[in-house]
Amino acid sequence: MKLIVGNQKSYLNSRDMDEFLLGIGALHSNTVVICPSFIYLDRFKDQNILLGSQTVSNYETGATTGELSAEQLKSIGVDFSIVGHSERRQKLNESINDTRIKIKQLLKNKMIPILCIGETEEEKDKGLTKNVLVEELEGAFKDLSLELVEKVIIAYEPIWAIGTGVTPTNDEINDVVKYLRDYLTTKYKVANIILYGGSVNEKNIDELNKLNIIDGYLIGGASTKVDEFKEIINKCK
Ligand code: PGA
Repeated sequence: MKLIVGNQKSYLNSRDMDEFLLGIGALHSNTVVICPSFIYLDRFKDQNILLGSQTVSNYETGATTGELSAEQLKSIGVDFSIVGHSERRQKLNESINDTRIKIKQLLKNKMIPILCIGETEEEKDKGLTKNVLVEELEGAFKDLSLELVEKVIIAYEPIWAIGTGVTPTNDEINDVVKYLRDYLTTKYKVANIILYGGSVNEKNIDELNKLNIIDGYLIGGASTKVDEFKEIINKCK
């Protein structure tokens, strides 16, 4: 059984969401976390699945126009939040310090951060993947107690694989995730949940499922296509 996190980004308009909800039916699953746009979170209330947000404010509930605090999200039943997604780091200039602050806000409100880490194509070509991942983990986990570090779900998302239809080979994923697991055990004595993300779809899911080393997937585009998403969920049961 794998944990599935659907990151719907800013893809669906209100009518698309009506269709999505109609198509998805009642999932009743405790291994699916759906992260819709904030405006649709409420629509998943009766769905009996886990709810996540795509980001969270650095700030507490209060005078921060346009932001949504961890406490607000938690109060409507959101238990997870993606943090440090590369699209936010690249397009919205979020820094690793922002990611760390968000992780702390979430943990303080008993929510689970899903921390995205991953290398660019250039970094991969230069053989820097593992250095980049460790740097990101260290930045995100600075000052966190070991007990809190272990609560964070880590999503290994090679940036070059996001939305491109290209994925690493199973051997490549295995090599990176094994390295991450060894690193986390040695440095923090923890065993985090680790997901793979980046162009997961109905065509490659069987191959990816051969990998025992990963605990699940962070799925972007395919989580907005209802039939494809359902098929992936079924294959991961
Ligand atoms: P993708 O996105 O599945 O569309 O590649 C994954 C992600 O950005 O989390």
